[in-house]
Amino acid sequence: MPTIALGVTGGIGAYKAVEVARGLQKAGHEVVVVMTEAARHFVGPLTFEAITRHPVITDQFEPGANADIAHIQLATDAALLLVAPATANCLGKMANGIADDFLSSLYLATRAPVVVAPAMNTYMWEHVAVRRNLELLRARGVHVVEPGEGFLACGWMGKGRLAEPDAIVAAVLDTLRRGASLAGRRLLVTAGPTFEDIDPVRYVGNRSSGRMGFAVAEEAAARGAEVTVVAGPVSVEPPAGVGLVRVRSAVEMRDAVMARAKGQDAVVMAAAVADYMPERATEKIPKEAGPLTLVLRRTPDILEELGRERAEGRLPGTLLVGFAAETSEVVARAREKRRRKQVDLIVANDVSRSDAGFEVDANAVVLVAEDGEQELGLAPKREIARGIVDRIECMLGRRKE
Ligand code: C5P
Repeated sequence: MPTIALGVTGGIGAYKAVEVARGLQKAGHEVVVVMTEAARHFVGPLTFEAITRHPVITDQFEPGANADIAHIQLATDAALLLVAPATANCLGKMANGIADDFLSSLYLATRAPVVVAPAMNTYMWEHVAVRRNLELLRARGVHVVEPGEGFLACGWMGKGRLAEPDAIVAAVLDTLRRGASLAGRRLLVTAGPTFEDIDPVRYVGNRSSGRMGFAVAEEAAARGAEVTVVAGPVSVEPPAGVGLVRVRSAVEMRDAVMARAKGQDAVVMAAAVADYMPERATEKIPKEAGPLTLVLRRTPDILEELGRERAEGRLPGTLLVGFAAETSEVVARAREKRRRKQVDLIVANDVSRSDAGFEVDANAVVLVAEDGEQELGLAPKREIARGIVDRIECMLGRRKE
């Protein structure tokens, strides 16, 4: 069974990490514990050593520690790195690439999936610096087991208490299970808006943030797929571990996608590609007193072209997934779109809702396929992405048979 590296940092929840180590062992894993100096003020290394039957790594610079190959090898041997509890300090170091002890160096040195279970005082948890660090880590594919609410050791009520050991163990097992389910698969994902230039300073754009496409790409990469993302002009951080191609306009996106579509197991068109583009003026259009009329032409429909290419046998075996942002008759329009564009799956969302879709971190969608519909209710885009990738995985599996 795979080895789990369990990082324990200096929070009051450190004692609960003993329970986590036991839970992982019960699931059949070897556990090697790495403790920060502060963690040792809360729990003794001996407790972990006795339970895991492995020496506990406490100090990078301890004489003899670097002669122990098992320690050095942990970065490559570990199937997963779990940090529980993860203090604000530890998350800050991970987010910013600071490697001043064994655990923070291990985080940089390993290619294994990483799960963190933060635990801290409510105000620390809510601090913008911690929020930002967690966002950075999430964007890199780090799985966060949210802390619970309740009575904190510091006497406060609020969010920040280390998640229950069972929940942490379940998150680790889930991450391991998903880790390889798309190994050997290639996915091309588009994300974000496209900008269509009017003149050298103005453009026509849309409100897509790129979050949905990035979440799908991140989820597929976390499951072991080789992922290429073609992204329009987005401001959010792209996920780590994917190939990134940046484009600006619909025409550029079309060229980037068509050049890479062949040989992909799936192409997921999550981008909000502009439907119309103006004729680009080479000089800045001067401001006049009266109204300005822009003539907009249709952009190439990339998804439709992919559907056509496949129907004509030039994209054999590539699963095609489109998105449909609608403001009414969402499912009916998605069904019609799926048939017309000759694609396998349409992810339909109602962008008239203010709590889901454009610019916000949540979404609510309906997956429309030939064999029926599946509703994924309001949830963070990361969770919606999980549902979408589950479906893609299932459809790919069926194709293979
Ligand atoms: O027809 P509609 O624009 O609603 O279709 C949306 C789907 O088609 C999305 O998956 C989007 O990425 C894709 N699309 C495209 N090329 C366009 C417009 C949309 O590939 N020019």
